[in-house]
Amino acid sequence: MAPPDRPPIEFRDIPFQGIIEQSLAGVYLVFDERFQYVNATFAEMFGYTRDEFVGTSIRDLVLPDFVGEAMEYYRLRVQEGVPSIRYFTHCKHRDGHTVHIEVHGARVDYHGQPALAGVVIDVSERVRRDQDLQRSRRRLRELASYLNSSREELRGQLAREVHDVLGGMLSSIKLDVFRIQRRVSDPALAEIREITEDLLPLIQDTIDTARQISDELRPRMLDTLGLVAAMRSELEAFGRRNEIVVGFTVEGGEPALSMETATECFRVFQEALTNIGRHADAATVEVCVHNRDGRFEMQVRDDGKGIDRSSMREGSIGMLSMAERARTIGGSLYVNARAGGGTVVLLAVPGYMGRRSNDRTADR
Ligand SMILES: Nc1ncnc2c1ncn2[C@@H]1O[C@H](COP(=O)(O)OP(=O)(O)O)[C@@H](O)[C@H]1O
Ligand SMILES: [Mg+2]
Repeated sequence: MAPPDRPPIEFRDIPFQGIIEQSLAGVYLVFDERFQYVNATFAEMFGYTRDEFVGTSIRDLVLPDFVGEAMEYYRLRVQEGVPSIRYFTHCKHRDGHTVHIEVHGARVDYHGQPALAGVVIDVSERVRRDQDLQRSRRRLRELASYLNSSREELRGQLAREVHDVLGGMLSSIKLDVFRIQRRVSDPALAEIREITEDLLPLIQDTIDTARQISDELRPRMLDTLGLVAAMRSELEAFGRRNEIVVGFTVEGGEPALSMETATECFRVFQEALTNIGRHADAATVEVCVHNRDGRFEMQVRDDGKGIDRSSMREGSIGMLSMAERARTIGGSLYVNARAGGGTVVLLAVPGYMGRRSNDRTADR
């Protein structure tokens, strides 16, 4: 508020020239595509003095790829009467590096002719920070995907070793014990016969355990019968273990997924089931698999206590890993609380047909 003993300040009394010359933002006036006036901040942004800069054309300042857009914005304001436009563009510094700027310019009257005046701020630092952030996000995603695939590879190798090598050796031992047993019918060797009788079920248990370990590392069914069959078997075992009623519906049959895609889908499915067993307190789980026109969808619904968004945000490694796996195969993951209670996990993989060239099954 002006003090009562002084007249209110008039617009013409404001020392605009001084303000503009000291402004931390670049200020410019363009007429006929050339800079007629710039303040020191503007000229310095591009490595020039004011005197050196005046007379430069917009076309010489803006990088070639963006000249067309800048000239179109210039034309819209000067010729079409669009009052003001705000946009980002990219210019050349005197020493060759790129200066990213945000421009806000409006049409003005210059000696009776339309011209353009406005302000510019240098946003290069922000652009570089954004680029750095995007680069590190991309690298983190690459790392996550690399870790997932190398883990899968290792699990696959171990599963084969346990199944083929250890399983093979155990079977040979079992056959040898059988042979011993057949040769000890003599009553004098009853004690040895007893030992072999105890030994055989033990060996069989060990064979079963080795098969189970191998299957947990990498379900053979995934390789032999495919994703849907492996999911069905996993779901049934899950239902038995957790005493949960399970339902499985398939529309469209077994999808022709690459080995990588099928494995990622299966791991997402396993984590969704693990979460239900661990957190949901559910009575039933419904799984729907939908496969049509090269789009694969998997929906896992439980009727448990529902997902709490705040608990998801804190340390949700399982959720993060599911989302990352979905992204790796070009799909999306949605996890939501259901209206009537419970949680739904949806994995959608569109257009997987196009990626069949990566199919690793062909290498096996
Ligand atoms: N089906 C579900 N029902 C209820 N809560 C769930 C369900 N799935 C996940 N959650 C919640 O989301 C959180 C994050 O899950 P996740 O990232 O897999 O972590 P973790 O299973 O290791 O706790 C869980 O701690 C749990 O609170
Ligand atoms: Mg989990």
